[in-house]
Amino acid sequence: MKRVYNFSPGPSALPLPVLERAAKEMTDTNGSGQSVMEMSHRSKDFKPIIEKTEALLRELMGIPANYKVLFLQGGASLQFSMIPLNLAAVEQGAPKKKAAYIDTGIWAKKAADEAAKYVDVAIRASSKDKSYTYIPSAPAPEAGDAYYHITLNNTIVGTKWEKAPDTGSVPLIADISSCILSEPLDVSKFGILYAGAQKNLGPAGTTVVIIRDDLIGHAPSWTPALLRYDIHVEEGSMYNTPPCYGIYIIGLVLEWLKDLGGVPAIAKKNREKADMFYSYLEKSRNFHSPVEKSARSLMNIPFIPKETDADKRKDIETRFIKEAAAEGLINLAGHRLVGGMRASIYNAMPIDGVQALIKFMEKFEGGL
Ligand SMILES: Cc1ncc(COP(=O)(O)O)c(C=O)c1O
Repeated sequence: MKRVYNFSPGPSALPLPVLERAAKEMTDTNGSGQSVMEMSHRSKDFKPIIEKTEALLRELMGIPANYKVLFLQGGASLQFSMIPLNLAAVEQGAPKKKAAYIDTGIWAKKAADEAAKYVDVAIRASSKDKSYTYIPSAPAPEAGDAYYHITLNNTIVGTKWEKAPDTGSVPLIADISSCILSEPLDVSKFGILYAGAQKNLGPAGTTVVIIRDDLIGHAPSWTPALLRYDIHVEEGSMYNTPPCYGIYIIGLVLEWLKDLGGVPAIAKKNREKADMFYSYLEKSRNFHSPVEKSARSLMNIPFIPKETDADKRKDIETRFIKEAAAEGLINLAGHRLVGGMRASIYNAMPIDGVQALIKFMEKFEGGL
């Protein structure tokens, strides 16, 4: 069997034991004589699957009882619309409400741009002046803010909030797509947490939303049914057909994580992997991390050649990505909008994968 080390930012590598188990269970899951893909979402066979997935997520993240967990479709991007619609949009003719956003990169900006269709968006801080290579200090919320939105880990630029801001009674909303379950997180500090599954949780197609009770039920009457949290909560994520297979795989990933020792254990491994790679970059003659030390992500590590001549630099990048792929180290290109390279080292990336990348880089640098 050939397996590559996949450094993709998402969809990304899944734990091999999960894939092997899913393959084994593919045609007959839990003695049902069916694949999960064939099951009715309302059947007695699927019910324990979604219940188990939710229970494991609650246990691993320590989700308090006054929070609901939803498994939705539409990706994290649909949450860019659902959040303003459900928390701050108003009936037609009523004065608009306002919401605070912190601009820490492309996804944060997209979330703000989408919200601006429904609410008065105030960008209270931004790190755009330095190409998003740091996390700006977050001002306190202002009176009348309906909510306060941050992107906890910025997948493209490789920054993360070391500490989420304290927003007092204003609900703090965080996009945790690229850091969910990578480190301990105090859920009770947030009003809503949301994440597309395709990085640390499972396949693309499922979005996890964790929402505090008091934030449910405020959408204006014109909100499309599928975009209303209250309807999804009332129907237990089954107002329409949920992404059943994705939910099943998330359940297997969570079991795998629990067996490893849960979030504290994976956080230790993630720290070890990231430290190993950042310290290599610190010593490297030819590459460096563009991100400020205090803001460095554990999950997504961009790195760029020190070469200043644009053509030579491009040539190094092209060769690097091609030669790494030939050695089974794939998807190391940086985001198309920022260039350079990026190693995404989510929970499923083994330490061996990071070591293999470092070994390759030593050889590559020797030939420069
Ligand atoms: C932090 C963050 N937010 C949102 C998105 C968009 O996710 P989706 O493609 O699930 O809509 C991504 C995708 O990579 C992301 O990294």
